[in-house]
Amino acid sequence: MTWRPDVPYNDLPALPPAMELEPKVVLKAAIEARTALATMAQAAKMLPNPGILINAVPILEAQASSEIENIVTTADELFKHVHTGGGDHATKEALRYRTALFSGLTSLSERPLTAQTAIQICSSLHGREMRVRALPGTRIANPTTGEIIYAPPEGHDLIVDKLSDWERFIHAGDDGLDPLVRMALAHYQFEAIHPFHDGNGRTGRVLNILMLIESGLLNDPILYLSRSIIGRKNDYYRLLRAVTAEGAWIDWILYILDVVRESSESTTRKIAAIRDCQRDIAERARAATTGGRDARFLDVLFEQPYCRIVTVVERCDVSRQTASNWLHALVAAGLLHDVKVGREVLFVNHELLHVLTRAD
Ligand SMILES: Nc1ncnc2c1ncn2[C@@H]1O[C@H](COP(=O)(O)OP(=O)(O)OP(=O)(O)O)[C@@H](O)[C@H]1O
Ligand SMILES: [Mg+2]
Repeated sequence: MTWRPDVPYNDLPALPPAMELEPKVVLKAAIEARTALATMAQAAKMLPNPGILINAVPILEAQASSEIENIVTTADELFKHVHTGGGDHATKEALRYRTALFSGLTSLSERPLTAQTAIQICSSLHGREMRVRALPGTRIANPTTGEIIYAPPEGHDLIVDKLSDWERFIHAGDDGLDPLVRMALAHYQFEAIHPFHDGNGRTGRVLNILMLIESGLLNDPILYLSRSIIGRKNDYYRLLRAVTAEGAWIDWILYILDVVRESSESTTRKIAAIRDCQRDIAERARAATTGGRDARFLDVLFEQPYCRIVTVVERCDVSRQTASNWLHALVAAGLLHDVKVGREVLFVNHELLHVLTRAD
């Protein structure tokens, strides 16, 4: 049967496709990607304060993944509002991506990844309960020309069945597939099922991180995967479609493996830059204030590029006055900038912010 872009693809086959999925080129690329991933995990362990990555990368990931959906905000805005919940509409929406990622992680610590996890992530992204599509009519169209590119399967029960197959495939460890190849296949399949009216791309990209964690290739959500995807967004769309239209699985798998390699390498570079920045700032903070000799204070300074007085009070067990003195001493030394956000003053570690947000 021939596939047509404007007809709901109810015949979408279950995974895995009946073909050789790991020819030599794939194995070679998988080794490169896994090596890059392992190098990154090792570098992360060497950070004096690894909390910064667990705080910052999900924010950067939220910014990039939401941008793929044209929700445009800056990482700076996100860091600024992450603990106050303010910001404009796009900022709030991108922050929900981070919440969705964390809700997925919590769920993963309790039970395996299932279709239910996907529903929870998508609901969290939208800030309201999302269900598997029951109504017909969802189409993926070219944003410029409006031409229909793909029509996902229709019918609630059919979609639920396909999600069950997807779920089984994720945990089918006995087929011997490399976990990164499995992630590539599962990501295509999830997008092709397109279970929701909206949010399928972002949910699928959160699921990628969760799959890496579930398979033990990643310990924390510190891989900045969506930056690499958005850098090659045209390929992302083209290759997804080529799987459906031509069964071009190998090109798709190679693309995902390369995204993993590239994002691991860029995260490794970021970790090195963060480490240098931490070292430099710690030294200058020690010279500027007694607080600079308090390890807990240095920890707070490196957990987020934006710091609040209350956080210093709580974490360092000092009075508000002392916390304020310490922070203002660092402002005087040029290490922090103070900015007013709403009614609160925030202290920006601008060098760290720059290291975190710059493209590399
Ligand atoms: N031809 C295709 N076949 C299957 N899936 C596709 C195809 N083209 C794009 N997609 C997927 O559909 C997603 C868009 O779907 P949807 O709008 O539901 O998700 P979103 O999260 O709201 O948006 P976005 O993914 O753009 O951030 C894309 O990100 C991509 O993952
Ligand atoms: Mg959308």
